[in-house]
Amino acid sequence: MRRRCRRRALSFRAAVHETATGPRMACRPAVFESLMHANSRTIATQQRGPHEDLARRVSRALNAPWRKPVAAHTQAAFDNAQAWLRERDRPLILDSGCGVGLSTRRLAAQFPEHAVIGVDRSAERLAREYGAPPDNALLVRADLVDFWRLALRAGWQPARHYLLYPNPYPKASHLKMRWHGHPVFPALAGLGGEFEARSNWRLYLEELALALAQATGREARLESFAPSEEGLTPFERKYHASGQTLWRLTVTLAHRPQLLPTPP
Ligand SMILES: C[S@@+](CC[C@H](N)C(=O)[O-])C[C@H]1O[C@@H](n2cnc3c(N)ncnc32)[C@H](O)[C@@H]1O
Repeated sequence: MRRRCRRRALSFRAAVHETATGPRMACRPAVFESLMHANSRTIATQQRGPHEDLARRVSRALNAPWRKPVAAHTQAAFDNAQAWLRERDRPLILDSGCGVGLSTRRLAAQFPEHAVIGVDRSAERLAREYGAPPDNALLVRADLVDFWRLALRAGWQPARHYLLYPNPYPKASHLKMRWHGHPVFPALAGLGGEFEARSNWRLYLEELALALAQATGREARLESFAPSEEGLTPFERKYHASGQTLWRLTVTLAHRPQLLPTPP
């Protein structure tokens, strides 16, 4: 009996830990899932303010062409998405890092005159059973690092772009893994549209706002907000149920493909 309790405690600790870094909830027992929903840890970081290397990294991304080749599987996924979008012939909404795609489905219902594309690299998350997406929604398995660059090159101009609860990478040494510290950041900024990012970590969005101002000259609005009971995404619901403050960054971005430097 004692051993079973210890196993449960260990497994619960593992579940909670994973929520801070990017969870895999598929095979968690229901009891742990419900506990996890109410006990998500707040972000722990040693950073006291925006990362001191942020401006330098953004400047480098804006000025040094990045030569990483596009993976064949993302090229194929993008080509499919492009064909799907042409058939729809509607304004585009991107849901980048859509996870299980609940937000993609909800956005498609909220904006029936738009075509909503949710992109995530996790096949396992995309495969979770939430029913077939509606006709104006598409879920794509792809790496955003390649997908955003392809979208920019193809002239995509999303009317709206959502980045909902991106992985925080809270260690200071992981700045380059946050989207605003990554070499692909100019592609994200250059796609344009009504951009909205949400997080339970205010500092992530503060940095994102600084990076966007540096790259585009646009000032983003940053505010706390109270989501609906069910939340727009599973992460939103989980953090809200745990009593965490949720933050939202919004800004209107111009379409500026030239922000991403191209190799000569
Ligand atoms: C913390 S989860 C949030 C998922 C969802 N937006 C939500 O709020 O429930 C971050 C998501 O970003 C995805 N992701 C991270 N890096 C990615 C990349 N390079 N390309 C595509 N998806 C990525 C992960 O697979 C994960 O599903």
